[in-house]
Formats: sequence, structure tokens, C-alpha cells
Amino acid sequence: MDMKILKCTVNGKPVQVGYDPRESLLDTLRNRLGLTSVKRGCEVGECGACTVLIDGECYNSCLYLAVWAEGKHITTLEGLMGPNGELSDIQQAFMEETSIQCGFCIPGMVMCGKALIDANPRPNRVEIAAAIRNNICRCTGYKKIIDAISLAADMLDKGTPVPEEAEYPQVGSACHRIDVKGKVLGTGQYVDDLDEVDLPGMCYGSAVRSKYPRAIVRAIHTEKAKALPGVVCVLTADDIPGSVKVGHLKTDWDTLIGVGRTTHFLGDAIVLVAAETPDILAEAKKLVEIEYEELPPVTSAAEALAEGAPLVHPSHGSNVLVHEHLVRGDADAVIAASKYKVTRHYETPWTEHAFLEPECAVAMPFDDGVYIYSTDQSPYDTRRETALLLGLPQEKVIVENKLVGGGFGGKEDVTVQHLAALIAYKTKRIVKCKLTRQESILIHPKRHQFSMDLTTACDEQGILTAMKLVAVTDNGAYASLGGPVLQRACTHAAGPYNYQIIDIDGTAVYTNNPPAGAFRGFGVTQTIFATERNLDLLAEMVGIDPWEIRYRNAIRPGQVLPNGQIADPATGLAETLEAVKDTYYHSGPYVGIACALKNAGVGVGLPDYGRCRLVVEGGTIHIHAGASCIGQGVGTVLTQIVSQAEI
Ligand code: FES
Ligand code: FES
Repeated sequence: MDMKILKCTVNGKPVQVGYDPRESLLDTLRNRLGLTSVKRGCEVGECGACTVLIDGECYNSCLYLAVWAEGKHITTLEGLMGPNGELSDIQQAFMEETSIQCGFCIPGMVMCGKALIDANPRPNRVEIAAAIRNNICRCTGYKKIIDAISLAADMLDKGTPVPEEAEYPQVGSACHRIDVKGKVLGTGQYVDDLDEVDLPGMCYGSAVRSKYPRAIVRAIHTEKAKALPGVVCVLTADDIPGSVKVGHLKTDWDTLIGVGRTTHFLGDAIVLVAAETPDILAEAKKLVEIEYEELPPVTSAAEALAEGAPLVHPSHGSNVLVHEHLVRGDADAVIAASKYKVTRHYETPWTEHAFLEPECAVAMPFDDGVYIYSTDQSPYDTRRETALLLGLPQEKVIVENKLVGGGFGGKEDVTVQHLAALIAYKTKRIVKCKLTRQESILIHPKRHQFSMDLTTACDEQGILTAMKLVAVTDNGAYASLGGPVLQRACTHAAGPYNYQIIDIDGTAVYTNNPPAGAFRGFGVTQTIFATERNLDLLAEMVGIDPWEIRYRNAIRPGQVLPNGQIADPATGLAETLEAVKDTYYHSGPYVGIACALKNAGVGVGLPDYGRCRLVVEGGTIHIHAGASCIGQGVGTVLTQIVSQAEI
């Protein structure tokens, strides 16, 4: 590679740095100058997480070649703070407005706000919204980000005093998030921010994945890849010391597909490669040769359920992953006898979480086991599954979360953690494995696609009498959390209403599509969508409006939900509808209304305990908890609870 020298000014200081003329400014800033506030979200100019200022203007550094930066003035988030780490006004404003959850988008948002206020010291909210239009936040929502930029403009213009926070934050008191400073300064570490300066000798790992959704792997040729200088290891399923299959609830997910085995989807890993640099890694992956016998894939739930369909997992004996049937009363008879009934077919699509931080893990040998830095929703499951893969007791696997750049259900399953652990365990090297955005979208489980046939019935007053639902969902190649998702979809399908006759039949099936699993709402969003649409249609038949039919049927304390649960005294659906009534009736023709319910915690009647360990050390209480802070602020809440508790 022909290296060149880039001369420019970065954060007010003249810089000379060697770079590959093909590389982006994002790579130069992160990899060569260690400016890790500049985030790698998509690398195709879509998310804005990599936004920096170049001569005062916002640019996506992933699309900006380093060579173009010659002689330019570049500012990153690190350049905004004072000499002793003091927050600039705009960083302070983001902290005060709590405009931050996972924080991965925040550096880009702050840079957009800074460029705007520099050019227009008194921007209005529309101008602020326009300034961040190319930046995506998947957690916070944009209102609070706009509030923060607006407050920053106020602070700079009028010296608006910053509100004081409670010294000992308690539940209900205003306080800063415990992780906010690192997120607004850009000093907080996500896993991909760990580099060879932090962890000398780190190598890079990645998987060669299947070319076909369903094919028998006939041969794997790794000799050429192994012979490439700088390659650390090339591993296949034969190198796995423990169980090849792992899984969150059901152990059905192949870590690597071995010779003679059949792939389940395009994301299946077949060979794992590690190399001294990302460039050598990319080269080595191209040298791996795999011979396949292509088979026709099962591409839909209907195909999976058809007579004679190929089995996605022959050992499971059927393409049906799980089936739920909830019956109370005789729905067919009650529907037939009801005054009004409506039957519709609904389809809802797969949905991608699009958390801004792609999956990344760093693993290293540790005490004859492995230590994993992860971006994880379920560190204890990652530990359990990695131990299973490596054939180790769980105590030999330690998983530590760095900051997590969003999850929303999509980071429940292992994706790269166990691959990194396998390389570290076999080679005794520190290794980083991360997914590109394209790999991330292919591999982690999605919100389930649903096909639903729903009949809902009511009497002449619009009082619900019964419902009947047949729901089929494509669970893709692996179980993931498909079982509980289907169960929640079924137990909540009839909505938060006071009627008791139901017949709900749900089936989740394996196909050769990418897997489906947890996503905000956990299956309930799909079935509730169908129920709420039918309710609108019934209202029309009865001659009442959508608010009125919901109010007449709203579950009230002491009444029994369709799933048999007795509504407790805190149930406030009727009061909630009353609170939005005026807004609903006075918002013009383009307004809709819908109700939903969702379980909290395990929520199926199982004991649902929370525990944590408190350790007092040098006058400080350390809170040890298993809950993963993925941006929702659980660390802050635990601090508030402990501050308040009388111990
Ligand atoms: Fe550059 Fe997404 S826009 S990383
Ligand atoms: Fe914006 Fe998470 S806080 S993406």
C-alpha cells in the first residue's frame, strides 16, 4: 500500500498523518488519530453518526476521502470541550435536556447543532430540525435533540442559567444520567472504540458466510487463506471444542456450518478468519473456497407449511417451531349470533431495528477461559452460550458490556461475541470481530412478519362479543425468541377490552429467511394492529366513532381481560381515553386512535425477581446488576433507587 501524508488542522492543532489514499476521513480520524467520537454507523452516508465539521460545514466523514481534507480545518466532538475537559455550551445543553439515550448518534447531532448556531445564532425549531435532517436517532426521538440545540443557542445568546441537579439523585428527582458526560464529550467507549493502543497486539476476525440460503457444504478449502502472510487463523466447525449449536432459548443456531451440513440462511457463517489487519482479513476471506450443492430454499411461511416442504431443521421433525392455541368459550357460535362482525386478512412486514451501532465484540484469553467486551442486551446469555460453544464452565467466560449503541431487541442473540471468543480461545490472541451494516441487517433477528385472518364481533351497541384469529409468522432460520414472541402476540391479540370469548391460533414456522426475534413490543404490535383495524370497521357498522367504541369496551379495574387476567385497580384505560378525547375530536380529519397493552417483565405469571449486589468500597457503593444498559438508563435508575434506599 502506498501511504501518503495528510497535512491539515484537526481540532485547532496542525496535524501530519500517514494515510492510505483510498481511505475515508472517518478511518483516518478514528484509526490513525484516535478520535473515536466520530462514529461508524453505516459507512454509506445514511445515518450521520460520523458527522464532522470541515471548514465549519457539516460532512459525513465516511463519504469524504481523507485526501480531500488536505489543508482543511476539521472539528470533531473532542475539539469542542475546554482544555481541562470542560463541556462547551452545546454539550452542556445536551446534558441538561437529557437528549441522550444510547448516545451513538449524539456526536453527529452535536456537530450539526454547532454548525447551525455558528451560522445562525438564533435558529427556530424548524431551522434546527432542518439542520439535523440527515442524522438519524433511533432512541431518543428528535424533540429533545431540538430542545438541546435550542437551549444551546439560548445559553450562548443570553447566558441562560443551567439548572442545578440534586446532589443525591433519588427516584423522581431531576438528575443527569450517570453516563451522559462520556456520551456528550465523546470519551465514552463503545466496543469498536477499543483499538490497538488500548489493547496492543489486537487482531481482527470475521466470518465467510454462505452464498446460498439453503445448500449442502460439500468442501471447504482454506489452504490459500492460511498461507497468506498476516493471517492468524482460519477456523471451521471442526475447530469448535464444545457445541457447534448455540441459542438463546432453543439450541438450534449453528455457529459454523461444517462439511456435509446444510445452511439455513444467507447469514450462516462457514469459516472464521482472523488476521493482523483489516486489509489482510478482507484479502484472506476472498481466498477461502467453499463448494456447495445448492438446494431450493423455503422462502415463506406458506411454503414451509405446504405438504412435502423441505425441512429447514430436519432434526426438529417439522417446520413448525411453535404453536399456540388460546380458547375461551365458543367463539364461532358467539360470532355467528352477534349483530355485527368483520373479517379481514392482514399482513405485517419484517422490521429491522437499525440500532445505530453495528454489532462488535473484543475477546481475549483470560485465566484459561475468555474475557469478552460486548455490546449486548443479554451478557449472561452470551456467557452461557459462549461457554457451551467452548466446552467450558460458565465461570471461565466473563462478559463485560461497554456502552451499547441501541438494541431494541436486536442485540438479544449472540452474533459476534462467540465468534470473537472462539478465535481468542484457539489462538490466545486479542481479537475484534464486528459486523458491517450489511451483515448486521442480514444476521440479527428482525421483527416477525405476520399473516393474520381476524374476525371480530360486537352487539348493536358496539359492545365486543368475541374474536377469532389465525396468525402465522415466519420465524426464519433459527428460533431466537420466536416462542415467547408468538405467545405474547397471542395472549395480547384481543386488545385491552372487556370481553371474554376468544379463539386465537398462532403458528411460528422455520424458513430459510433471516431469523426473526425480539423487537420492541415483542409480537404484540402485529396482532394489536389487526384488532384495532377491525375495531374501526365495527365502529363504522354500528354508527359510532373510533373513540366511542374503544371507550365503551375499555377494560376497567376488576373486569376480566380476554386472556383471563383480572385488571388491577391501577388500570386507567378509560381515564386515558377521557384525557385524549378533546384532542381527538378537535384535531381535524387526519387523526387516528388506537389502544394497546403489553406485559412488563416476564409477565406470564412466573415469579419475576430483580436482584443486585451492593459492594461498599472506600466510601463508595458499587452496584452490580445483570440488567444491560442499552440506552434506556437503567444505570441511572439503579443509582437513584440505591440513593433513596435505607440500607
Ligand atoms: Fe457516515 Fe453513517 S453517515 S457512518
Ligand atoms: Fe440517538 Fe441512541 S440516542 S441513536
